[in-house]
Amino acid sequence: MDKDPLVIFTPSGKRGHVAPGTTVLQAARQLGVDLDSVCGGRGICSKCQVQPSFGEHAKHGIHAGEDALSEVNAVEERYDRVRGLKPGRRLGCQACIQGDIVLDVPPESQVHKQVVRKAATTRVIEMDPATRAVYVEVDEADMHAPTGDWERTKAALKAQWDIEAGTLPLNMLTALQAALITGKYKVTLALNEAREGAVSVVGVWPGYVEPALYGLAVDLGSTTIAAHLTDLKTGAVLASGGVMNPQIRFGEDLMSRVSYAMMNPGGAAEMTTSVRSALDDLAGTLAEEAGIARDQIFEMVVVMNPVMHHLLLGLDPIPLGQAPFALATNSALDLPARDLGLTLAPEAQLYILPLIAGHVGADAAAVALSEAPQKQDALTLIVDVGTNAEIILGNKTRVLACSSPTGPAFEGAQISSGQRAAAGAIERIEIDPATKDPRFRVIGSDLWSDDPAFDTEVTGICGSGIIEAVAEMRMAGVLDAQGLIGSAEATGTPRCRPTGRTHEYLIHDGSAKGGPVITVTQGDIRAIQLAKSALYAGARLLMDEFGTDRVERVVLAGAFGAHISPKHAMVLGMIPDCPLDHVTSAGNAAGTGAQIALLNRAARREIEELVHHITKVETAIEPKFQEHFVNANAIPHATDPFTGLRALVPLPDLNFNAGDGDGGGRRRRRRG
Ligand code: FES
Repeated sequence: MDKDPLVIFTPSGKRGHVAPGTTVLQAARQLGVDLDSVCGGRGICSKCQVQPSFGEHAKHGIHAGEDALSEVNAVEERYDRVRGLKPGRRLGCQACIQGDIVLDVPPESQVHKQVVRKAATTRVIEMDPATRAVYVEVDEADMHAPTGDWERTKAALKAQWDIEAGTLPLNMLTALQAALITGKYKVTLALNEAREGAVSVVGVWPGYVEPALYGLAVDLGSTTIAAHLTDLKTGAVLASGGVMNPQIRFGEDLMSRVSYAMMNPGGAAEMTTSVRSALDDLAGTLAEEAGIARDQIFEMVVVMNPVMHHLLLGLDPIPLGQAPFALATNSALDLPARDLGLTLAPEAQLYILPLIAGHVGADAAAVALSEAPQKQDALTLIVDVGTNAEIILGNKTRVLACSSPTGPAFEGAQISSGQRAAAGAIERIEIDPATKDPRFRVIGSDLWSDDPAFDTEVTGICGSGIIEAVAEMRMAGVLDAQGLIGSAEATGTPRCRPTGRTHEYLIHDGSAKGGPVITVTQGDIRAIQLAKSALYAGARLLMDEFGTDRVERVVLAGAFGAHISPKHAMVLGMIPDCPLDHVTSAGNAAGTGAQIALLNRAARREIEELVHHITKVETAIEPKFQEHFVNANAIPHATDPFTGLRALVPLPDLNFNAGDGDGGGRRRRRRG
């Protein structure tokens, strides 16, 4: 009816006519406006605040008189007196609409507020977590109409919130019984609705409270476990941290852990116990760091590869070691966290993202969720570099995924002077093509090593440093395309020193001050070649399957991916040729995917759907993998031309193989 007042909500722009006397909260609900409420309109929570705008609104064609809203009532006055309301603000559950009005819903009053994640790529996550708090007033017990506390609470939830609660765990029933008495039949409940319609009570408090609700987003990798402790109401990250995966002592990579389970009775259970306790300890550490209690953590989302998945859940990983790589389940899982022995809130819930295939895990699913290749026009290759690389290729038409066992070389392991990315590690390096002398930068100092003020202790080379070192050696002509380091004679620098039948390149000699001698050995080059060939071969397989031999964009993901220089990665031949400015890094995309799934239930449904449409490629049984792997062994590649890259950087055409296998005494030009 046009005579009814017109109400316009900003910033959504939603508008409509409502009957005079309708509360702002009711109007918001009628018009589908996102306005929060925890106390159910009782003037207690203040979540429903709006800012009315009086006067002329030419844009909307209305004039809002001072009497467009009912006068401030006693409930609002009391709230303002006791807790304070910002000037001009009204409680939406108290203020009634009497005339045309424009109402602004401030961000803190929006249920689905948007949280911007600061990462390499800025992410906007809409808040819609599975756990939230509601306040209910329950009928008192009446001996003439005998019903249980839980049944009356359920009825109150239905009547006051239109929520159909499911079953109640026994410990929550105990808590409810006590809270109803202490709270004089008024209680606040934390509800978890992981799947639509499946509502369970996960927390109970007497009276009206604003319980702190936190969640943990975990990226459980084979080498490290990283987690973010997040406020489920605001999306703010309170603490982030990581620990080494203690399963490393059973085997560095996934297959060696599967073999450990095969060879040792009880070995899988041992690995399960160790990772669960590491996860539990990490939750405790982050809670302490954030100054919260661990029983305020109500949810956890974990993303991981299939072997980590099976080991965390206590499932047998052995079938994952051989074709057909049968998974116990590939579906997303909702479980009580206590099933894994985690000591969070007693009813804390765990969500595990779906797996894509026997070798392609929930971590790849999380990367897909975070990077959304299925929404891109440009054909995008996403490489999550780790001990096991997750590779995704796709665009709007199709998405393909595989994983490839790169091993830990990119993380600085298996490298003679390798170390984790920590203070003292060389992370950047340049080699002068004329003098063949290096200059470098180490973590913890902004100075280059040739700066007279540089006096930092150099301890080793981290993963990004070794990639740059090998690529720079190739560009400077101390390493040939086959990956052989030349002799001093062949390269013209005494930095190339013989070691047995091969050579090494000296980067830094700290021995005068008792420090280490840092070199790149022929063995290091081989380890890097194996790792990068596995990565490239995986990407090539996906490109074959897609029917293309070029990609338009490359995204380097993973905590380590963020530190890799695109140019050096391409010189090494880790990634296919592509314009350098189309290579970006996405930070820890799997971790971001876990965060998104923690804060937004629709994203969980989205990825559960997407995994059905991702074509999985098993590198282990694909006959072309071996061929691609062998061709990828050269730096940058034996057969792929890398024309774009060659136009930008020098790739000297050298061959240090003198035919006697000693790494070369002669310098020979080959036709290019
Ligand atoms: S809805 Fe709680 S104060 Fe208005």
